Amino acid sequence: MTSMSKIISGFSKLTKQEKIEWLAANYFNNQPEIIDTIQQYWNDDMKLQQLHDDFIENTISNFYMPYGVAPNFVINGREYVIPMVVEESSVVAAASLVAKFWSSRGGFKAEVLSTTKIGQVHFMYEGDKEELLDYFEKIKPHLFNATGSITKNMEKRGGGILEIELIDKTDKLDHYYQLHVTFETVDSMGANFINSCLEAIAKEFRNDEIEIVMSILSNYVPNCLVRAEVSCKIEDLGGETPEMFAEKFHRAVQIAEVEPYRAVTHNKGIMNGIDAVVLATGNDFRAVEAGVHAYASRSGQYRSLTHCEIKDGVFRFWIEIPLALGTVGGLTSLHPMAKLSLDMMQQPSAKELMMIMATAGLAQNFAALRALTTKGIQYGHMKMHLMNILNQLGASESEKETIVTYFEGKTVSHSAVVEKYKELKS
Ligand code: MEV
Repeated sequence: MTSMSKIISGFSKLTKQEKIEWLAANYFNNQPEIIDTIQQYWNDDMKLQQLHDDFIENTISNFYMPYGVAPNFVINGREYVIPMVVEESSVVAAASLVAKFWSSRGGFKAEVLSTTKIGQVHFMYEGDKEELLDYFEKIKPHLFNATGSITKNMEKRGGGILEIELIDKTDKLDHYYQLHVTFETVDSMGANFINSCLEAIAKEFRNDEIEIVMSILSNYVPNCLVRAEVSCKIEDLGGETPEMFAEKFHRAVQIAEVEPYRAVTHNKGIMNGIDAVVLATGNDFRAVEAGVHAYASRSGQYRSLTHCEIKDGVFRFWIEIPLALGTVGGLTSLHPMAKLSLDMMQQPSAKELMMIMATAGLAQNFAALRALTTKGIQYGHMKMHLMNILNQLGASESEKETIVTYFEGKTVSHSAVVEKYKELKS
């Protein structure tokens, strides 16, 4: 007997209930708990649920992530609470600790270094290069004009198309050229704007000899760059041996500057902070991730995004990172929680949001390196994890208190916690 195929046509046309029933029947042996779990996460507010359903195709439920806040950030003299959406237990705690730490040491200083983005029309051309150059120069004003209806509003806000260049790529691939277009998209991330402009440009540019392959923005944004920094006198770092701490911390950054295996983890820790704010504000985390890691590799080797210097008794630690973000348009205005996040940060412009996120990344890296070069990372992680384990075991408040006290200064492991809990119970 052959088993029935699970390939289905017209799935997207089924109602939500029908989709769930099909799923339960075909992939879960009709276990009733499956449907309960899926429906448990529906929002009672039908209008709100509909809003979320419509973001994507085939929505059957919602997926919760914790929404936390890290207070006490001081950036360029202004106080912020930073919202963070993240599942990793130590991230918000680390951000809060480090924010407080630097708030009494001058806070974070941040500046936006550049804000332009790139889009490209990729095309093939087999004719004479000089003729192509002539054609490009003649048609260039018309390429700008062709986007007039799209760029009008953006220009009112101070953005638009800054430059259109013809680039010869035939040394990389036979007959391959591109129109390389530079955009300023102000407070919007600009993906739709850029892609619409590129398609209008391509339509105007094509002729019998030019074969347009595709028109699309680039998520590599090395000229949409922000810098954030902290600094203080070494003795103000506190602790018993601030000199030693600073030196070891500096070493850890140097290692991530030269060693790719370490750099990837180092930068992952930075992204723990950044992605959490990207998610909380409804920005595109895949775009941010792709752009950031490409930037980290721009020298030909993958390197640390943060840097450290100890000079004349001063400890300085900074990040330089490309971030293409929006504070208008996209999910930022559609998702009520994204809007709340932006309101919480006093409705930042895209530039301000770049500075806030760079700060969140720097703070997270500071926390990780401080832990790694002193107590080791597992100390803090396991302390947070201890609570998760105790919750899983169903420990009461008083049992939690006893066990947390017991583990102070001791190594936390899952088995040690379970053992202690059993001991307490018997
Ligand atoms: C864990 O999510 C992040 C760290 O591994 C970052 C780092 O090693 O710098 C702690």
